[in-house]
Amino acid sequence: MKEYRIEAVVQICQMAELSEEDRALVEAAKQATCGSYAPYSKFLVGAAVRLQDGSIVVGANQENAAYPSGLCAERTALFAACARQPGLPVVSLAVAARKGKRFLAQPISPCGACRQVISGVEERYGAPIRILLYGTDGVLVSDGISPLLPLRFVNEDLKS
Ligand code: THU
Repeated sequence: MKEYRIEAVVQICQMAELSEEDRALVEAAKQATCGSYAPYSKFLVGAAVRLQDGSIVVGANQENAAYPSGLCAERTALFAACARQPGLPVVSLAVAARKGKRFLAQPISPCGACRQVISGVEERYGAPIRILLYGTDGVLVSDGISPLLPLRFVNEDLKS
């Protein structure tokens, strides 16, 4: 048997340590929680995507009585950005979540399906996406999806 060790390196930053650009994206994600429709979970999630030209596209989770028909904030934002500006690569993505008025203390953790979609968007534009996961105790920063989704399914796997 061979052991394969996987190392994930991410940063935890305070808001003040982030660049103005990153901070603005996190603020946009926090603001985007106002567009959440979450009558079932009451878990309000916002996401903000920065494109190569500096513009920001936001999304929020949208729930449905048929639960699996709903969509997370991350995919809502990413798909909207890619549909509106298919020629502009996605540079970064910020996510924030709150229950009632209180944002989570720990950085929100995107679900597996959203991680896979982030990976797909990275592949589409050929560059890692900077990920900023907001918590009031700190912001988890990952330069690309790789640390959050090692051993993922990629384009190349379709050809093997
Ligand atoms: N949700 C998101 O929008 N993003 C995440 O990263 C985690 C979960 C949503 C899906 C559902 O509407 C609610 O939060 C509870 O799972």
